[in-house]
Amino acid sequence: MTESLILSLESSCDETAGSIMRNGREVLAQFVASQVDMHRAYGGVVPEVACRAHMECLLPGVDALLSESGVAPADLDAVAVTHRPGLIGALLVGVSAAKALALAWEKPLIGVDHVEAHVAAAGLAEPELSTPHVALVVSGGHTNLYLVDRDAGGVERMAVIAHTLDDAAGEAFDKAAKLLGLGFPGGPVIERTARTGDPSAYAWKNACLPKDGANFSFSGLKTAVLYAARGKAGRKGPLLLDGKGVADAAASFQAAVVHALVSRTMDAARRHGVNWLALGGGVAANGSLRKELAAAAEAAGLRLAVPPPGLCTDNAIMVGARAHALFAAGIRDGLDLETAAR
Ligand code: KG4
Ligand code: ZN
Repeated sequence: MTESLILSLESSCDETAGSIMRNGREVLAQFVASQVDMHRAYGGVVPEVACRAHMECLLPGVDALLSESGVAPADLDAVAVTHRPGLIGALLVGVSAAKALALAWEKPLIGVDHVEAHVAAAGLAEPELSTPHVALVVSGGHTNLYLVDRDAGGVERMAVIAHTLDDAAGEAFDKAAKLLGLGFPGGPVIERTARTGDPSAYAWKNACLPKDGANFSFSGLKTAVLYAARGKAGRKGPLLLDGKGVADAAASFQAAVVHALVSRTMDAARRHGVNWLALGGGVAANGSLRKELAAAAEAAGLRLAVPPPGLCTDNAIMVGARAHALFAAGIRDGLDLETAAR
């Protein structure tokens, strides 16, 4: 097995994160600096605010990683960084910092795909996870099903087998929460509010299952929440629901999203004849999704790899896990590494 000691950075959205890991598994130091409080006032992630916060947090974070781990830059085998997809300015801050460190320390640079890193987190949580498997990545920016298999070099590669036709699931959680007057970020607050609501109060169960039979759609459900919450006045109108009504809408919304995610994932697993499922991305922190998918997998005799909630939302441990796999396969990038929003 290839040994590695890698410093990894993540700045694709609204979390600044770093890690130093041995062999993509052993975490010697890590940090996640969340910007949620800064964006809350705006009701969503403001790219300019995110970039500034990344700039302020990244290098002090690297200093803390080195001192906490006792690792000297000379001991590192590589510097890894998320270079796609995400907010372009936010990605550029991380990639520029990683290039500067790689140049100054004379270390190779490894660019990591954020979505591939979310899938790698599932492998960290469940070392027995084998290929081929079907992975569901659900976050603020993505809602995709992938068939994951190894290439000739032994590196896991992902092919999209289903996707959202409009919003991402996390984006839908954030928008629904706003419409229900619940604040930002929407996922955790909808999950909490839904606990006291009736998931069958609204007939939304199949709202996220487009007729194509394979993909997802969340914009129709968002419109249903809009009408339930604000009526004909639209998003600027007053909230028409009382506390119980909001809880019922939150519970019905969450049930519809979870139903779509679970049923499409199980269909894909059947179609592709896999034995393993993997789950990743910020929405995978949702307790109802975790429970329902686990129950469906068990009923179908499939195994399921799910990271703990802290490894589902953005972090640099998942980046380090993916970076090690690339490093072990001999993959290195140059200082011309590019960033890409998509
Ligand atoms: O993966 P992530 O941290 O960042 C992106 O790559 O987008 O995902 C963030 C998304 C947000 O939309 C947030 O509302 C959602 O994940 N999220 C949740 C939960 N925790 C975070 N959605 C549902 N239930 C949760 N508990
Ligand atoms: Zn993410």
